[in-house]
Amino acid sequence: MDESLASFEAERADFQRVLDAIHKIKVATQSELRSFDWLVGLIREVGLVPIPEFEVTYEGEEDHLNASQQGVIQLPREFARYLLLAAEIKPATYLEIGCFNGATASLATAYLQRFNAAFQATTIDLWPSFIFYHEVRDLIPLRYLVGKTSYDFAGQVFDAVFIDGDHSFDWAWADYQNVGRSARLCAFHDINNAPYRDLPLAGVCGVWEMLKRQEEPGVELHEIFEHPSAEIMGIGVRVRAC
Ligand SMILES: C[S@@+](CC[C@H](N)C(=O)[O-])C[C@H]1O[C@@H](n2cnc3c(N)ncnc32)[C@H](O)[C@@H]1O
Repeated sequence: MDESLASFEAERADFQRVLDAIHKIKVATQSELRSFDWLVGLIREVGLVPIPEFEVTYEGEEDHLNASQQGVIQLPREFARYLLLAAEIKPATYLEIGCFNGATASLATAYLQRFNAAFQATTIDLWPSFIFYHEVRDLIPLRYLVGKTSYDFAGQVFDAVFIDGDHSFDWAWADYQNVGRSARLCAFHDINNAPYRDLPLAGVCGVWEMLKRQEEPGVELHEIFEHPSAEIMGIGVRVRAC
């Protein structure tokens, strides 16, 4: 078989697990939806993108690595805890910045729709890597826009925002100012990712440290760290009282 056709088929086979997860979420019971173990299992079934240094990043999750660029770039236990926290506020609107292959946006959309029937999500990226978007478009309320940044949404208010685009300080701060600060819930991926601390102003980790120093009234900050042995990934979630 032609090599590029074989790799496309490997991508499609891995994306099928995203579609399967969407269907499982649609028919899940309320007790399954609120179960940490059920959610972790579901995310593991979708599988993990084999990024560079995946052995260290995904320590303990090696059995869930995908063969292609489909899947999530998350620690399943962290993303499950994030989804459980986001579900508590029952958002009606959601923006993900930096969706890559679309797996995290698809999972979050299918999941959060179960807590609010009016739920509508938007996911953006600079590059068109969500190649199977046409397969989820009619299943879940997810809009996908390419070549957009948070500047295109500045001033719009979303109930929840997930920031996972460019992890430099400048971009994470811009994303926060443009759409994160006004959101009831704003999550940043990789706030505990040690290599990002070597970036100017400590990258997205530096943004999170600034938020921690601000101590705003009515704001709770949650740190979701689940790597078993190192400072890797981590999700910071700012939640404003309504
Ligand atoms: C780490 S990947 C996201 C992975 C995905 N959210 C997940 O958890 O599996 C980061 C993505 O952000 C995109 N990106 C980089 N800079 C961006 C920006 N300023 N605005 C929007 N997207 C950006 C990249 O093209 C890339 O696809």
